[in-house]
Amino acid sequence: MSILCQTTARQENQAAGLLRIATLPGHRGYGSVIHYRGFLVIQTVSTTPFNDQKPGTSGLRKKVKIFQQPRYAENFIQSVFDSLDGFAGQTLVLGGDGRYLNREVIQIAMKMAAANGFGRVLVGQGGILSTPAASNLIRKAGAFGGLVLSASHNPGGPDEDFGIKYNVSNGGPAPEKVTDAIHARTLEIDSYRIIDAPDVDLDSIGISQLGDMTVEVVDPVALYAELMESLFDFPAIKALIAGGFTLSFDSMSAVTGPYATEIFEKRLGAPAGTVQNGTPLPDFGHHHPDPNLVHAKQLYDRMMASDAPDFGAASDGDGDRNLIIGRHSYVTPSDSLAVLAANAHLAPGYAAGLKGIARSMPTSGAADRVAEKLGIPLYETPTGWKFFGNLLDAGMATICGEESAGTGSDHVREKDGIWAVLLWLNILAVRKQSVVDIMAEHWATYGRNYYARHDYEAIAKDKADALMAALRDKLTTLPGMVNSGGTIKAADDFAYTDPTDQSVSKNQGVRVLFEDGSRVVMRLSGTGTEGATLRVYIERYMGVDGDLGLETGDALAPLIAAAQEVADIAGYTGMDKPSVIT
Ligand code: G1P
Ligand code: ZN
Repeated sequence: MSILCQTTARQENQAAGLLRIATLPGHRGYGSVIHYRGFLVIQTVSTTPFNDQKPGTSGLRKKVKIFQQPRYAENFIQSVFDSLDGFAGQTLVLGGDGRYLNREVIQIAMKMAAANGFGRVLVGQGGILSTPAASNLIRKAGAFGGLVLSASHNPGGPDEDFGIKYNVSNGGPAPEKVTDAIHARTLEIDSYRIIDAPDVDLDSIGISQLGDMTVEVVDPVALYAELMESLFDFPAIKALIAGGFTLSFDSMSAVTGPYATEIFEKRLGAPAGTVQNGTPLPDFGHHHPDPNLVHAKQLYDRMMASDAPDFGAASDGDGDRNLIIGRHSYVTPSDSLAVLAANAHLAPGYAAGLKGIARSMPTSGAADRVAEKLGIPLYETPTGWKFFGNLLDAGMATICGEESAGTGSDHVREKDGIWAVLLWLNILAVRKQSVVDIMAEHWATYGRNYYARHDYEAIAKDKADALMAALRDKLTTLPGMVNSGGTIKAADDFAYTDPTDQSVSKNQGVRVLFEDGSRVVMRLSGTGTEGATLRVYIERYMGVDGDLGLETGDALAPLIAAAQEVADIAGYTGMDKPSVIT
């Protein structure tokens, strides 16, 4: 700990009315400065930086074992607090998806929030808050911000993943300028502050004190369910279900269990058993809580069976993703975004229409055609929900979505799995058609964007970097080249200028655009915790006069071959096929 910093921390604490009574030599070179606040001891603990705490696409995600290193979580949380201004006496929202380490880190975060001068912590009962519910709570409580403990769709358990994400006062993920400041701080941090107090009882709803800070353990579901009821026509959906419409929702043993049970079974009257895998488990029952066709195969098989329900859906670890499958009909997330945007006005919360639609760059252009028809703007942003926040705050977009099973609106500042399911149900209740028929009508109106994402997981990082570097090097030579996909019209590395604050984000993924409007996009994942993941996004547009009933794999085969030709994926990765196709 540098003398300078120690003095600063001491001065701040003295300014906050604390009495410094001792400076103790710490263990193994780490010193502690101890203060008393009320009857609780505030410690300023010396630390040294970890050099791997750069937040990725969605917060800091690492293996549990990494988070379990002494001072690791503390360093990151203190770096978050050190990067913020003006939170003294303010409210912090705290909760997570219930995965392994959730409760332990919540206790640490509460004690650190108390020692750093927050006035109040709102924490979900049992440490549970889905990501969209946390976003809603931050907004409704007028909180300064929130810490969401989750690694989203990554598996959980002692050998799996954990994560911490900071959300700002609009309820959304911290923008890049904040995450950059947090990262910079993690590289310089030399002490953290924590209160020495017994653990808070997370299981009983109620109010207690942690030093000068109030801790409120709140019902994680009620406020969120109320918000959903305000947006959608619950009586119409209830009538649909009462009339025999059947649905199945797979919570994947993750956070949405309590939310889905309350909303689908209790409030909307779906029979018990509609929600499957509805108890959040620290290891998600050894499942990978990612709602795609590989990991939600149980649901997929149920939906393809002869006695399939009318509608199936799933959500991920922290409840912000959604998978939609109609009876015998999978809906790609990109198409789902387009259908939701085209029909949102059928739900009471969106009856006034949409201000604009935003999608991440790799997401298919299906929503663009809807925006065009509606005469509203379409924004194309880099991957990651944090890029939507400014557009939503500025009232420029109402609905946003990503190809990675994320859809949401301006009701919160996160994507929202259950919201997407409810909007679908509301649309089905009004249109009284099957999912298959709705999709067919949609394509007949707008044309069809055949689309798939191929993921090559756990590649050696140097190989993945070399593949991307080689691709970037030849960008200027690609236009005019003819390969299996046709003639390449343009190729670039996507850069985004935020229209609200003019901030620029570069190197957001390589795009290879073909003359017929097809495209191949390649980028490396920013959320993985093992090696690197190459994502290849493949899209081909077929106008209303083309063949709208092709198998996706057949429709995309020439472009899949083109991706190989352009990037030599097999050569760099040693893999002759992707690990996951969604
Ligand atoms: C992935 C998805 C991205 C999403 C993010 C967080 O990020 O691709 O759309 O916002 O998870 O859920 P990636 O691993 O591709 O960086
Ligand atoms: Zn998630």
